[in-house]
Amino acid sequence: NPIQWYPGHMAKAKRQVTEKMSMIDVVIELTDARLPESARNPMVDEMTRQRPKILVLNKSDLADQAKTQQWIHYYESQGIAAIAVDSRGPQSAQKIVSACQAIMKEKRERQLKKGRRPQSIRALIVGIPNVGKSTLINMLARKKVAKTGNRPGITTAQQWIKTKSDVDLLDTPGILWPKFEDPEVGYRLALTGGIKDDILDFQEVALYGLSFFSQAYPDALKDRYKLDELAEEPFALLEQIGEKRGCMQKGGFVDTEKAAELFLREVRGGQLCRLTLEAPGLHKQEPIADTLG
Ligand code: G4P
Repeated sequence: NPIQWYPGHMAKAKRQVTEKMSMIDVVIELTDARLPESARNPMVDEMTRQRPKILVLNKSDLADQAKTQQWIHYYESQGIAAIAVDSRGPQSAQKIVSACQAIMKEKRERQLKKGRRPQSIRALIVGIPNVGKSTLINMLARKKVAKTGNRPGITTAQQWIKTKSDVDLLDTPGILWPKFEDPEVGYRLALTGGIKDDILDFQEVALYGLSFFSQAYPDALKDRYKLDELAEEPFALLEQIGEKRGCMQKGGFVDTEKAAELFLREVRGGQLCRLTLEAPGLHKQEPIADTLG
């Protein structure tokens, strides 16, 4: 079931994250490396300002590597500590632990000078639904921690997850709402599977994706669907794909709903190519793809 971000839920989610700030040393904010700005909550900076933060570009295995590097440089130039990980991969936990240690280094040195033994670093993971919070918690904890339903406002007793490293985690991540004022952001999130499919029209999302791919990664489309030429119009392109893949209905017409479903599943699974939907500095003013079919 889709998450309903009623204003009341948003206020509650915001309050819950803000309240946790006093319990922690570091905020680990997760975003999606394919759309680092669109997959961030618009108010997260405001909520977490009091604490040092590490921005984790997750799912980097699905993103364009060169563009991920551009994003890391961009965030660093803004004074934001940023790292890229594949939270399912073996190195993700160590990378995050090292980043936490680096950000806490000076504070720990000050504590040592005062004769205090440094405590474990207490961290909170925050991010929008589906960005990989539970996966990362499990990797850091090295055990399966129950997934907390992607719903704000469920309060359970807060527990610390002790990890083998010196970073402890709050067991409930801060679940925040995505940006949905900007339709472009909605389409990007939908294309990557970041929001439920019943929120936006499936076929429109596929058309958005096709128009993006034909501009940014035409060869990936040609290779995947064995097409010599790509139709110019996204809808005609969807028909080409459907035809190639046997998504047909009675009367010899292409079943474009089925073709859209197939295309989206393959994009999300990374079967066409690694993709990044937005570039640093462009995400606000200049959409990479601007035709919605
Ligand atoms: P959440 O707690 O923030 O809501 O996200 P969660 O960890 O549940 O992850 C959402 C989906 O993203 C999961 O896939 C998860 O496996 C996948 N995922 C998380 N991190 C990465 C990553 O770094 N790379 C890739 N490629 N995928 C990642 P799912 O299809 O919902 O579940 P499942 O197939 O893992 O069962």
